[in-house]
Amino acid sequence: MTTPAWIVGASGLLAGELARLLEDHPGLALAGVASRTRGQRLRALHPGLTRELETVALEEAAGALHRALDTGPAACFLGLPHGESAAAWRALAGILGPRAKDLRVVDLSADFRIADAARYERAYGAAHPDPEGREGFVYGLPELDRAALAGATRVAAPGCFATALQLAAVPAARAGLLAAGERLVFHGVTGSSGSGVSPKASTHHPFRNENLFAYGLTGHRHEAELEQALAACGPVPPLVFLPASGPFTRGIHLTAFLPVRPGTTREELHAHYAAGFEGEPFIEVLPVGAAPELRTVVGSNRASLGLELRGELATVLVTLDNTLKGGAGQALQNMNLLLGLDETAGLPRAGLGYV
Ligand SMILES: NC(=O)c1ccc[n+]([C@@H]2O[C@H](COP(=O)([O-])OP(=O)(O)OC[C@H]3O[C@@H](n4cnc5c(N)ncnc54)[C@H](OP(=O)(O)O)[C@@H]3O)[C@@H](O)[C@H]2O)c1
Repeated sequence: MTTPAWIVGASGLLAGELARLLEDHPGLALAGVASRTRGQRLRALHPGLTRELETVALEEAAGALHRALDTGPAACFLGLPHGESAAAWRALAGILGPRAKDLRVVDLSADFRIADAARYERAYGAAHPDPEGREGFVYGLPELDRAALAGATRVAAPGCFATALQLAAVPAARAGLLAAGERLVFHGVTGSSGSGVSPKASTHHPFRNENLFAYGLTGHRHEAELEQALAACGPVPPLVFLPASGPFTRGIHLTAFLPVRPGTTREELHAHYAAGFEGEPFIEVLPVGAAPELRTVVGSNRASLGLELRGELATVLVTLDNTLKGGAGQALQNMNLLLGLDETAGLPRAGLGYV
């Protein structure tokens, strides 16, 4: 028996990636796709797919989900911009009524990621769109907090940069390796797919190809997710994250400079990361001194970590595919957990090797 899955925001990049992953999923079957524009062919929106479906309105999707929930579990992915997800969830929940609590939901937007209203407002420059709705969502970075996901029905999937930032810094914070009160510095380069499906000057090929430029010099919204994770480990150290746009389509390359306690050795540093991610199918901790590459993780749901120590400054490098471990792959990993399926179901572990 497969569980029916719906995707809202059908024309989006991550919706297409999710639909692709669901084509080969043993326990979930794509039942339908919702869009602002009804009657579009899914294969016209995402030509790499082989399944043929037509987009429907959110209300029709809600009706189908209601009928599905009468006979068993059902899954819904929200692949919408921030602000839109909260509105879509309110609309869905309104139509589903008491059945809403049975639906398994993974939201890809930022709407339900930040628990603290003030931190959300600082990052997004507006009051939270649905503080009550936020309470039903659990933050879903499984390798850092799988226990929180037990028994959950709704997950806020982390941001792409936020995933890399947390994988880089949280193990050191949890192990008590960070030098008290010292600034953590992060620099990340992302591929153009991080900006979504709508063409923009910053994603236009002649300007993006063979170019490199930083943005967000005064801060990036995903810092709020890192601060939230670090707050669970103790006082939040000051931090700076500088993102940049790279001349490739998929992938994130993140460099973290973390001041560590005097006396920390590179072996100790490596041992804490290796132990923290031991047995994790989607996290690879390379030997000390090895640098992860994009080409080994692009196309996979894996993140690859490299570590080095110079004096009292640790360098942690993270590579991942923003559309998979940083997006649709992690969303599916979370949905597998919500449904009690094998966490790795439908998710590629091997990277392309070259692009
Ligand atoms: N791209 C990444 O690497 C990445 C990684 C992690 C998280 N995320 C987050 O995941 C969500 C989806 O990302 P994405 O890259 O798939 O975004 P996208 O390509 O821009 O797609 C979002 C889709 O949402 C729908 N939509 C509904 N209301 C909209 C509105 N007012 N404006 C624009 N689109 C609207 C559209 O689909 P219809 O017209 O078919 O309804 C649109 O194609 C976003 O919140 C994004 O921040 C993205």
